[in-house]
Amino acid sequence: MQWRWLRENDPVHLHEATDYPAFWALTKYDDVKAVFRDAETFSSARGILLRPSGHGADPGGGRTLALTDPPRHRQLRGLVDEWFTVRSVRAIEAKMREVAGSVIDLAVEREQCDFVEDIAARIPLYMICSMMGVPQADWEKLFRLSREAFGAGDAMTRRFAHMDIMGHFQNLAAEKAANPGDDLVSVLVAGRIDGERLSQEEILLNCDNLFVGGAENTRIAASGGMLAFMEHPQQWRLLVDDPGLLPTAVDEVLRWTSTPTHIMRTATRPVEIRGRQIAAGDLVTLWLPSANRDEDVFDDPDRFDVRRQPNRHLALGFGEHFCVGSVLARVEIRFLYQEIIERKLDVEAAGEPVPLDSIVVNGPKSLPVRLVPRR
Ligand code: HEM
Repeated sequence: MQWRWLRENDPVHLHEATDYPAFWALTKYDDVKAVFRDAETFSSARGILLRPSGHGADPGGGRTLALTDPPRHRQLRGLVDEWFTVRSVRAIEAKMREVAGSVIDLAVEREQCDFVEDIAARIPLYMICSMMGVPQADWEKLFRLSREAFGAGDAMTRRFAHMDIMGHFQNLAAEKAANPGDDLVSVLVAGRIDGERLSQEEILLNCDNLFVGGAENTRIAASGGMLAFMEHPQQWRLLVDDPGLLPTAVDEVLRWTSTPTHIMRTATRPVEIRGRQIAAGDLVTLWLPSANRDEDVFDDPDRFDVRRQPNRHLALGFGEHFCVGSVLARVEIRFLYQEIIERKLDVEAAGEPVPLDSIVVNGPKSLPVRLVPRR
């Protein structure tokens, strides 16, 4: 509701400093897209997420895929791009279906389960582990650590779990340096930009970027999508009757859930947007759930519609930093729903969903469900 008001009345809103520094909040689709498009004027190198003022700069600034500007960004992305093409993702589809199937079979055996943790979380995490060359014996350990690192526990538990994950990738990078494999970590270890290898720190921070990017948003989007289907059972029915709708349904899930709540840039020069003067150094935030419900772009934007076409949402970003895992994410979400449909199951609520408490991502933290035979 607030976003609708902002779109109509103050689409380039200056949010005064609080615990967070002052920032501009852009809520209209066209403005958000224009900022994504212009990576020279709007830099990612000083961070892409709001951080409380006391927290200082993002440690990955200028070093990870998400936090570098062109021309280095393109060179870095060139090292890993090949791993995320339609062809590369197709090569791991069989594995993905197997994981999705076994996770769903396990959920069916239980009286009830949490769709987020027990179903949606494992598929993207196992897949990114597989692509990064993590031995299968360690996937479950990394799953547990990532739940601790990005879950609701206290700050200390989260910090230690994240350090454990980094330690894991440090060891893996050392192993891959000695014994390279056909995987993403080996690519980062061997990669050269302008003839120079990436530093140890750059390798680790990029492992973290891929691991977190690969695991977090897909889990939340797939779960938020399931919740949308439970709230709009006629849309689930349409999909069950015609699984050929899965591709448009997945994009509608991405638009509807818009899990990255905001993405940030820093202006590199003075620039005007809708008559507001933005100074060099100002923080500019892009509110994706708002852009993806902009009534100037989407017909009836508050309707969840698996047949929506066109659907040029910005849930995966746009331009220079467009989500490198976009193909992977779409396929993971599709297989998850497809496996449920093919097993002739319905998903029923078994309790109240609990939302995440974050300004970075939005969607369910937990979604208690029962998987039951389709009626
Ligand atoms: C539903 C799932 C996903 C959503 C909604 C999502 C969303 C996004 C968005 C909005 C961006 C642009 C950030 C920016 O412009 O600063 C982005 C970039 C990125 N995403 Fe995703 N993502 C998803 C899945 C994935 C997956 C599966 C991976 C796998 C590795 C991934 C890895 C990345 C990385 C590394 C970047 C930075 C790319 C760059 O800066 O060139 N994401 N993602």
